[in-house]
Amino acid sequence: MKAYRKFSQIATLQGALVKDGRKLKAEDLSIIENGSVVFSNEKILWVGNDNDFPSEYLGLSTIFFTGKTLCPELIDCHTHLVFGGNRANEYTMRLNGADYEAIARAGGGILHTMNKTNSATEEELFNSACIRIERIHSYGVGTIEIKSGYGLNFEKEYQLSNLIDRLKKKFAPRIQIKNTFMAAHAIPKTYKSSSEYLDGIVIPLLGKLASEKILDAVDIFHEAGYFSSEDTEKLFSQAKKLSIPVKSHADEFNDNKGALLAVKHEALSCEHLLRTGSDGIDALAKNDTVAVLLPGTGFFLGKPQANARSFLDRGVKVAIASDFNPGSCHCDNVLLAAQLAAPTYKMNLAELWAAITLNAASALGIQNQGAIIDGFAPRFTIFDTPTLDEITYSWGRNLVFFS
Ligand code: NIG
Ligand code: FE
Repeated sequence: MKAYRKFSQIATLQGALVKDGRKLKAEDLSIIENGSVVFSNEKILWVGNDNDFPSEYLGLSTIFFTGKTLCPELIDCHTHLVFGGNRANEYTMRLNGADYEAIARAGGGILHTMNKTNSATEEELFNSACIRIERIHSYGVGTIEIKSGYGLNFEKEYQLSNLIDRLKKKFAPRIQIKNTFMAAHAIPKTYKSSSEYLDGIVIPLLGKLASEKILDAVDIFHEAGYFSSEDTEKLFSQAKKLSIPVKSHADEFNDNKGALLAVKHEALSCEHLLRTGSDGIDALAKNDTVAVLLPGTGFFLGKPQANARSFLDRGVKVAIASDFNPGSCHCDNVLLAAQLAAPTYKMNLAELWAAITLNAASALGIQNQGAIIDGFAPRFTIFDTPTLDEITYSWGRNLVFFS
């Protein structure tokens, strides 16, 4: 057991937890001034104002954090960080006027990264992923979801899911990794149709990986030109039979009713959602599927952003993630994405912090993270600032303080 005492502020998010991360008001941050926390390796045992510090814990190993702020650990619930090569030239082409989807149709995009990933060895991919994970951790992020999906053939996708499992084991418990299978990310040119690739590669491989019990979730790029609603239903049904939770990249370029389909299949989350209609937003509001918004991607693609307020006002559980990947968002800093999005999305600070802690945990199916309350996991991020509001105010500055 340990005690961390006398933080200037602890943002417990208790109010946000009570409201299931929905329709939050600024006060749902539930900030404790002059706060202290006691925890074991497994869970938080006590949190409160230091004036009420229980005498039974006075003898514990203690660190004092005067002038610092304690938050639930930051979570990046959507990354594609295992990839070979980079696409800096495509970004330059886009700045010069080319379009993301047109570049993809011309053989760039995800398929370019597929080639670079296939020509990299497992060790090269593992080593570059380790560097990326450490850099993400330096921003205060301790839980990271990693999607596979740049192998796009049976052997390489098998290798990538196993590589993510190796990363998970290497970094635990300091950094917690969630392994999402996303072989349904694009269709290699050698296949005539998405369903041929899905039936020939994705579904058989899912079966093999499920029997090895290394997957935390299954994802699919449900979008015109990628995977259809029929493909998505088929993959979701297969995952359900194997008891693996599902999620989708949905409604990014078109309102293809991806949010509705995700809700129908009780998906943990659906992500992007730039074009989701009223029916999709209402379905999300009435259910537990988390809407993961990716402001860095809209920003980097120069496209319109999701209408976050309509999700938030109707009571959807909203998370924000980086979407770190080599093409549509080469930014690995989820806090920066959230800081940047706040004034555009018009989010209050409780909505913003819940989006990268409590609701991001929910998007990963984690029930005991994202708030600092008794019984929750002792996963924290400490900032070198006396108040929480200085963190969003100083956007782009890394204020993380490691104890
Ligand atoms: O989430 N949308 C699909 N996948 C990624 C893009 C990947 C890429 O461009 O390499 C995304 O934005
Ligand atoms: Fe993505």
